[in-house]
Amino acid sequence: MKYIIYGKISGALLLILLLAGCGGTEEEAVPEEEQTETEADDAPDEEAESEEPEPLIDGEDLADDGSIQALVNKEHHLSADYVPEDLVPVEVPTVLESPEVNQLRQEASDALTEMFDAALADGITLYARSGYRSYNTQASLYDSYRAAHGEEAANRFSAPPGASEHQTGLAMDVTAESVNLELLEAFGETDEGIWVRENAHESGFIIRYPEGKEEITGYLYEPWHLRYLGTELASDIHDSGLTYEEYIKESGMDIEEDGE
Ligand code: DAL
Ligand code: ZN
Repeated sequence: MKYIIYGKISGALLLILLLAGCGGTEEEAVPEEEQTETEADDAPDEEAESEEPEPLIDGEDLADDGSIQALVNKEHHLSADYVPEDLVPVEVPTVLESPEVNQLRQEASDALTEMFDAALADGITLYARSGYRSYNTQASLYDSYRAAHGEEAANRFSAPPGASEHQTGLAMDVTAESVNLELLEAFGETDEGIWVRENAHESGFIIRYPEGKEEITGYLYEPWHLRYLGTELASDIHDSGLTYEEYIKESGMDIEEDGE
């Protein structure tokens, strides 16, 4: 069984976790492929190896250009000083007190409201738990998980600073009372989790870390982590059954690949 672990984390670290509310699913700390925490600034040279950061869409630091479709993952980072320009407080029920994490970019916030309303119309009540996180908040969160669980385990459920979609202001962790407003893998099998899986794309969100895709996304299953991409792209990805990484490759989206 996988469940959120806050138990071994104390004091200030616990406060950070409670405020930021990152989904920490924990299963056995089996070492997987070693995840590198590469810095994103330096563009890879002509013979980029797989461990080098890949070029971003349009060959630029895409994640920093404010694109709604920004690919952010362990290879595609945001700069430490990247802050979206149009963050707004979300207008849906929230779980945490932190003003920071109760924000999204305007377009994503509007879409979240639409999705929550659509859910409500189907008798489904959702809550927003953790949206925008600054680079520094993510760094504190990641460091606390790394201290508590070790780097290999932490890397399976927490993004290093600069590698988290939460810094884009386009990702929101959602939850429900059926899982005590926490971020649990069990959410995926609740009525609310099933509704999200089946309907979120209609409001422009995808489940970014699907079950069984850790080798591709770099993360364990997170049925709560929604990424806003707009209704057209989110619906295409939903219908394809692919992760965002796979979809970009298979669809020939405008991404500059330098390597395989
Ligand atoms: N839990 C996700 C992977 C994050 O830390 O951004
Ligand atoms: Zn998340």
